[in-house]
Amino acid sequence: MKRQEIKEILSSEAFGSTIKVNGWVRTKRESKNVNFINLNDGTVIHNLQIVADVNNFDENILKKINTGAAISVVGELAESGGQQRVELIAKEIEVIGEADPDKYPLQPKRHTLEFLREIAHLRMRTNTFSAIFRIRHAMIYAVHTFFNNKGFFNMHTPIITASDAEGAGEMFQVTTLDMSNPPRNEDGSIDYSQDFFGKKTNLTVSGQLEGELAAMALSKIYTFGPTFRAENSNTSRHLAEFWMIEPEMAFYDINDNMDLAEEFLKYLIQYALDNCMDDLEFLSQRLQQEEKDKPADQRSMELIEKLRFVANNDFIRLTYTEAIEILENSKHNQKGKFQYPVKGFGTDLQSEHERYLVESHFKKPVILTGYPASIKAFYMKLNPDGRTVAAMDVLFPQIGEIIGGSQREENYEVLVEKMEKMGVPVEEMSWYLDTRRFGSVPHSGFGLGFERLITFVTGMGNIRDVIAFARTPKNCEF
Ligand code: 4AD
Ligand code: MG
Repeated sequence: MKRQEIKEILSSEAFGSTIKVNGWVRTKRESKNVNFINLNDGTVIHNLQIVADVNNFDENILKKINTGAAISVVGELAESGGQQRVELIAKEIEVIGEADPDKYPLQPKRHTLEFLREIAHLRMRTNTFSAIFRIRHAMIYAVHTFFNNKGFFNMHTPIITASDAEGAGEMFQVTTLDMSNPPRNEDGSIDYSQDFFGKKTNLTVSGQLEGELAAMALSKIYTFGPTFRAENSNTSRHLAEFWMIEPEMAFYDINDNMDLAEEFLKYLIQYALDNCMDDLEFLSQRLQQEEKDKPADQRSMELIEKLRFVANNDFIRLTYTEAIEILENSKHNQKGKFQYPVKGFGTDLQSEHERYLVESHFKKPVILTGYPASIKAFYMKLNPDGRTVAAMDVLFPQIGEIIGGSQREENYEVLVEKMEKMGVPVEEMSWYLDTRRFGSVPHSGFGLGFERLITFVTGMGNIRDVIAFARTPKNCEF
C-alpha cells in the first residue's frame, strides 16, 4: 500500500477508508485499553493521532513505540473529537526503526535552544525546528520566484576566489599546501606559486564583484550562494558561513535600488504570511510562551502582527547625516546609554544605534543612505558632495542591518583613485575595472543576509537557530 503523508491526511475527508502512514513517534499516551500515539512525518507541524486498541497488538510491539521511533501504520481514517479533525484507528503497526527511550535525547518536554544546538543533528525533529526549516524552504522558493517574475537571471558566482578586494570581512584561506611544511621563497615567505591555483586563494565573502560583470551583459541578475567571513564575531546575528542573495542591476540608480529592496523584503514576508501560517502560528505561540515572564514593555510585538506591519507599511528613508543628528540629540545618547557614544559625522553605526532608530525612534524599518565614504567599500558611488557615497542599509527591528547595498561607482577615473586611496590592488582588479573601461553604465545592487531574514520571519532570537548546522568561532560540529 502506498504511504500517504500527514499533511494530506489531515485535510482528507475520506473517513472509513484504509490508509498507510509512516512517521516518527512524538508521544505515546497509554490508557487502560488504548494507546494514543502522536505521529509526525515533517510534512506539516501537526501530528496525526493514532489510536491503537491494546487488545489487537502484541505487547512487544507496543513496547517499542517510544518517542523518536519510526513506525508505519495501516488503519482506518476516522473523524476525531479531539484537536484534529481526523485520527487513524490502527489495524497494523510495524516498527521501522526503534529509539531506546533511555538514550534518545529528545524527550517530550521543553528543551532549551542551547541544548538543542548541541544536538543539531536531531533538533529538526522538534516542532520549533521543523517549522523553521519549512519556512526557510518557502523563503528560498520565494526569492527565486520574485526575481524570476521580474526577469532577473540567477548566476552562480565562484566560492573560491583569489581576490580579497571587497574588504567585507576577514577571509578563510583555501590551500592544498602541507601547512606543517609549506614551500618557501628565499625570503622565508610561503611560496603560493606551488599552491593548487598557483596563487593564494580564499573562500568568497560576496558574489558582488562577479555579479557586476554579469549585470553588464544581462542587465538584471542575482546570486544566491554561501559566503564566508572569518570575523571573530560571537553575536546572535553573525555566522562565519551564511547565505546571501545579491541582485545587481544595470541602469538602476540608488532610488531604484531602494525601491527594489523594499519591494523584495515585503514580497518575502507576505509570501510567508500567505504560505506558512501554520508554522508561524506555532512559532508565535512559542515566542509568547518564552516571553511571558518578561515585563510587558520588554515583550516583542506578536510575530504575525509584526510581519503584517512590515509588509504593509512604507519604510522610512533618511540620510546617514539625518540619522546621526537624531542619535546625537537622543536622550539615550545624552544619558550615556549607548555603549558606543555617537560623535558626529564619521561615526560608524553599531547595531545598538540601528536598533534605536528602528525600534525606539521611528518604530518602522528604515533605509539609511549617504554614508561617509570613509566607512564604506571602495566600489560605492561618490556623491557630488565628495564625502558621502550612495550606500544604502536597510535596518529592521531586532535584526539591525538586514540589507547592505549601493549604487556603484561607474566612472573609471574616480574608481581607480578611490582604490588607490583605500589600498585596493588596481593591477589585480583589472578584470573588474574593464566593466568601467568598456560600455560602463550606472548600476546598483544589494545583499540580503538570508539567515537574518529567516531570523526576522521566524521571530527567533539567535541566527544559529535558523541554519541547520551553524558555523561560528570555535564551532564546526556535524
Ligand atoms: O553589508 P554586506 O557586507 O554587503 C556585501 O557583502 C555587499 N557585497 C552586498 C552587495 O551590495 N551586493 O553584507 C550584506 C548582508 C548584510 O546586510 C547582512 O544581512 C548579511 O549580509 N551579513 C551577515 N549575515 C550573517 N552573518 C554575517 N557574518 C554577516 N555579514 C553580513
Ligand atoms: Mg553592510
